[in-house]
Parts: sequence; C-alpha cells; structure tokens
Amino acid sequence: MSQNRPSALIIGADPYLIRACLRNDIDPVVVYGPGLHDWGFIEIPQGVEKVFTEDTSSVESVLFSLHRAGLADRAFSCIHTGDEMALVTVAALAKVLDISVAVEADVAVRFRDKWLQKQVLTEAGIEVAKSQVIEDVHHPDRSEVQEFGKAVLKPIAGAGTKNTSVVEGTAGLNAKGAEYRRSGMPQRTFVLEEFMPGDEWIVDGVVFDGVLQFFSVSTYGEPCLSTVEFSRALQVEVFDPTADAGAYELARSVAEPALRALGLNRGVFHMELFHQQESGKLVFGECAARTGGLLQPELVEAKFGVDLAVAAIRCASGVDPQIKPSVRPETVGSTYLNNRPGVLVGYPSPAEVRALPGVEYLRLELPYGFQMADALASTTEAVGQVVLSGATREEFRSRRDSLAQWFDERLVVVPAHATYPELREWQRQQWPETVSAFGTYSDD
Ligand SMILES: Nc1ncnc2c1ncn2[C@@H]1O[C@H](COP(=O)(O)OP(=O)(O)O)[C@@H](O)[C@H]1O
Ligand SMILES: [Mg+2]
Repeated sequence: MSQNRPSALIIGADPYLIRACLRNDIDPVVVYGPGLHDWGFIEIPQGVEKVFTEDTSSVESVLFSLHRAGLADRAFSCIHTGDEMALVTVAALAKVLDISVAVEADVAVRFRDKWLQKQVLTEAGIEVAKSQVIEDVHHPDRSEVQEFGKAVLKPIAGAGTKNTSVVEGTAGLNAKGAEYRRSGMPQRTFVLEEFMPGDEWIVDGVVFDGVLQFFSVSTYGEPCLSTVEFSRALQVEVFDPTADAGAYELARSVAEPALRALGLNRGVFHMELFHQQESGKLVFGECAARTGGLLQPELVEAKFGVDLAVAAIRCASGVDPQIKPSVRPETVGSTYLNNRPGVLVGYPSPAEVRALPGVEYLRLELPYGFQMADALASTTEAVGQVVLSGATREEFRSRRDSLAQWFDERLVVVPAHATYPELREWQRQQWPETVSAFGTYSDD
C-alpha cells in the first residue's frame, strides 16, 4: 500500500473496478473467489494487493479472509463490488467494518430480490409484470399459486437468464417443478411473472445524491430469453441521444421514478425494460445496482467516453462522479461470437478479427478444448464478444452481421455426439491431408 493514497476494498476480481481504482490513484485490495483460479482468464495486475476467499458472496467467508490477512482494521475509503451475487454481502460488510458504500443493505435487498423489487414499484404506481413468489420450486404449494396463463419462471435473485423459462398455467409450473426436483436444481425460491411481450431495452447509468446524472439507452437484438432458448448470438445496439432523442425521453420517464422508488441514492445501475411497439409503452423489467455485464461497460465508454466503474468507485466513496459525456455520432453496438455444441479446436486470431471493418474492442474468452453442451444455459456463453461501430445504423449492422458470419465460418468445433465414421468424415473435410485409409487391400 502506498503512503497517503486512498485504498478501496473490492469484493470480486472485477477488472473494470480494479482499472478504475488504478486510473484514480486509489490502491485496490481485491478479495477474490475460486472462480479466478478455476477459469484462469482474468488476472489481477502485478502489485495489486489480493486476498483469496472461498465465497465472495458470504459475509463469513470474506470476514475470515480479511482477518487472516490482517486487513479487517484498515481504513478503506470505500467497499464495492461489481458482482450481482455479492451486493447484499458488501452492504452488510460495510456496516460491520464501518466503511463507506454506495448501496446500503435495505436498498441492496430491493435490487436483488426480483419480487420485492416489483412490490416496491407497484406501491409507487409504476407498471410492472404481475409477480408471485414460489417459495420452494421443488414443491410448489398449489393452494398458494393463483391460476395464470403464459408466465416466466425464474430464480428470485438469479442473473444471466439462467434457469429461466416460459411456463403455461399451473400444469406447466408443476411440470417444471418436478423437472427441477429430479435434476436437483440448487435454487429453490423462484418468481413467476406474467409474460411481458416487447423488445428489451437497457438503461445503464449513474445516480448521485438522488439525481440521475448520466444514462445510456440501448436495445438487445432480441430478448435475452429467446436468445438463450434458440442459442442465438446476443447483440446490443446503443441508441444515439440526439438521433434517438425520443428513446432517451421515454427511458428517462420510467427510469427516474423507478430508481427513486427503489431508493438508489448513489451508484451505478443496469436496468432492463420491455418496449411494446404497438402501444409505444416502455414497461420496467428489472434493475441491478451494478454495472451491466456483457460488453456494456465497453459500449458506454465507446459511445459516451464514460467509465462507469470510475463513477461506481466515486459514488461508493461519496464523491460526486461529475460525469462529462462526450458523445460520438456513430452507431455503436456489440455481438457475441457464438460457439457450437462439441469441442472447440480453432478460431481466427485476435489480430485477424481486429483487422475487420469497424471492430473497436474484442474479447475471445474460450480456450481450445472447451466443450460446449447441446444448448446455451445463460447469456454468458460465447467464444467471444466484440464491439463494432459504423457511420450509420445500416453500416454498423452490416459490419456486425458479416463479422459474425465470417467468424462462424472459421470456427472449428468437433461436432458433439458424432459417431466415429462421422468424425472421420469431419476430419477429411477439415484436414484432407491427415486422413489415411485402412490400406491392406490396396497399395496406398
Ligand atoms: N415477465 C417477463 N416477461 C417476458 N420476459 C421475461 C420476463 N421476465 C424475464 N424475462 C426474460 O428473461 C430474461 C431474464 O430475466 P431477468 O428478470 O432479466 O433476470 P436475469 O437477467 O437476472 O437473469 C429477460 O432478459 C427477459 O428476456
Ligand atoms: Mg436481466
């Protein structure tokens, strides 16, 4: 630790938060979990103080680790996390360790529990999907469940569209409950929500002293649920605050009262809404009190020159982030570079991808040898992700689509469930010079 420099306690090895500290002359102390060792992709930079803990979402685990490392009494300028699962833990730790935090425990709870969140908004007169709690999805209590039509069943505090599905009526709920019981689904408390049609919009932004200081509005190419259901590439396009001023006005009209009702006084947020094209209505979907996943931080930086993680750290320390966006007129967006079921054995080099028109940022995440299951299980699975830009929306979309197709054509995946004859044929097509026949009856 440097003398006289502030030090921030960061729970989870979030590269954006670590970089934000380093950009702001703050010494981060990073409490990281086993995922870092298990996955081996993210690194904590040399010189950054780090502490291992078994479970970053457990108060007990983090406190053990801090005490073992002799850090429990250090005067941190703030405690913060970018990890959805650690939000309430961090709020509790802030209380125990008496450290400044962006989101206090009671507010954190409203940002985590999807049912409580909708209750608060309903009470504030904000339109949301009707929602009921299924306390134990292995054993849904039939007497408690009101009859319903098409609905979405999802973990009460999940993320990444994991274990999220559409169910029809109580028969559908019972069938899903039985499936989860058989498969040993570890999550038990779910919410059942009225199905909201519409495209999905995203608002990423910053609140300070109760004022919505900055926000970016973007839209998913298609809703996350169908993206996962049909194993498609997740895509996002950022709206332009001038050309799409109407979208920004509409988003503000829902986001501002929703954030006020939820009590976010300071901090960053990632909100999802359903845009109903016929009525033009925008209906609140959910809101997290952290920066968005996917490449949302890169997209906001590319379009607005704003580092949301820097804003997050400032908010956590009680300092006005004083955001000064500088907007680029180009269309900016992202696409996943999807995998295929089977064993991944090849993809283009980062240099080749970066050389394609409009590519501004690239992340290739999966190592060769990675085995993909038959279907996507969440919105976090892809070979890589890329941010692109184009002078117009059309140019951006055509660059994005041709890049995704170009990458897919060069992706080499040993097909799942292939028989040996099928694998031989696949090898012959990929690498004809490596195939040799059983030569006993011929001279070759
Ligand atoms: N009530 C709903 N109506 C329609 N689609 C929904 C509803 N709730 C969730 N979804 C779909 O499921 C996805 C994941 O649900 P969400 O509440 O955003 O949880 P998380 O992102 O934490 O997994 C959403 O992005 C959306 O596509
Ligand atoms: Mg979501």
